[in-house]
Amino acid sequence: MKKVQKSCRTTSEVLDAALIAAAQRVEHYEIAAYGTLIAFADLLGESQHASLLRQTLDEEKAADEKLTELSQDVNVAANDLGAGESEQGKSQSGKRGRAA
Ligand SMILES: [Fe+2]
Repeated sequence: MKKVQKSCRTTSEVLDAALIAAAQRVEHYEIAAYGTLIAFADLLGESQHASLLRQTLDEEKAADEKLTELSQDVNVAANDLGAGESEQGKSQSGKRGRAA
């Protein structure tokens, strides 16, 4: 039962890390897109549109920073749990090696 609980916990931490990574890829794509749109708006003399786009760009950057902050603990937790499993796997395979 403990093994099942640990496995579920590990999966949850790794999935959280993967979700944060995917969300950050989306934010980076949006940051690039809004940056380009701002350049186009500036070039066309659309200062009001550029201003609104800059506000949105700032929101996207803030979301990216929050995700980075969130990822710090989640990535460490996912790595720690995974490392624990690796050590357990090594010791189990080592036992098997000795017994055979
Ligand atoms: Fe976004």
